[in-house]
Amino acid sequence: MNIDLSGQRALVTGAASGIGRAIALGLANAGATVVVNHLGKAVAAVEVAAACGHGALALEADVSNSAQVAAMFAQTTAALGGLDILVNNAGIMQVKPFLELTETDWDTVIDTNLKSMFLCCRAALPGMVAQGSGVIINIASELGYLGRELYVPYTASKGGVITLTRSLAREFAPKIRINGIAPGPTMTPMIEAEIAITGGLEAETATPAGRLGEPTEIASAAVYLASSHASFFYGEILSPNGGALMR
Ligand SMILES: NC(=O)c1ccc[n+]([C@@H]2O[C@H](COP(=O)([O-])OP(=O)(O)OC[C@H]3O[C@@H](n4cnc5c(N)ncnc54)[C@H](O)[C@@H]3O)[C@@H](O)[C@H]2O)c1
Repeated sequence: MNIDLSGQRALVTGAASGIGRAIALGLANAGATVVVNHLGKAVAAVEVAAACGHGALALEADVSNSAQVAAMFAQTTAALGGLDILVNNAGIMQVKPFLELTETDWDTVIDTNLKSMFLCCRAALPGMVAQGSGVIINIASELGYLGRELYVPYTASKGGVITLTRSLAREFAPKIRINGIAPGPTMTPMIEAEIAITGGLEAETATPAGRLGEPTEIASAAVYLASSHASFFYGEILSPNGGALMR
């Protein structure tokens, strides 16, 4: 399948590392111009933008902060003239017993993983509606379906991402296609940090695939969803997860 995203303008949040980095590179490899959003990772983000080519640029913004999101989309529109593809990827993981959670713990995870998608979709959609086209891809998690002990705010945020995606897909169809991806365990800095806390890979690799995913295996799903080959996908949550969850 030949995927050509030449002339497409994309923004990927949290794209200085892991899955977001692979998605930015995948979209650029297909010809898109990519804005590489990051938070506090300027050196890595500039490196990703340089590797992307096609006029890619790195922009810092905390995606849970409405003023910073508004400024990032204004800068994106000024630099690229508009936006065709938004990938809401930025997220954080938190492993903590429920009874030890503080209100701040809850707010930090929900704001970073879920409110950020509200803010970025709200910033991107008026321009997409005006131009009569656009694609949004939201990165959820298999844990958004399964739930998991010690991961309550994370799993709640990802369940929210799934239903946010489906509701928005219905509201903005047919001209704007909004879909999601619910990855299984994937080898990134996030899962390395998680393994350091939980002590092993046993649960993560107890799947038919028997291994962690690679970021490029998630990115290929995003590149596909961004392309015209996925023109009949609305509100779909693709699940590259090694068979951990078969829906
Ligand atoms: N790795 C996995 O096993 C896995 C599985 C399912 C879902 N996911 C999801 O994939 C996405 C990417 O995670 P990853 O595994 O690549 O980890 P990662 O830590 O490498 O990537 C997350 C990125 O988001 C950025 N970020 C965090 N808070 C931000 C904020 N407020 N504003 C802007 N950027 C911010 C981080 O700096 C980081 O670069 C996340 O949404 C995560 O929940 C990961």
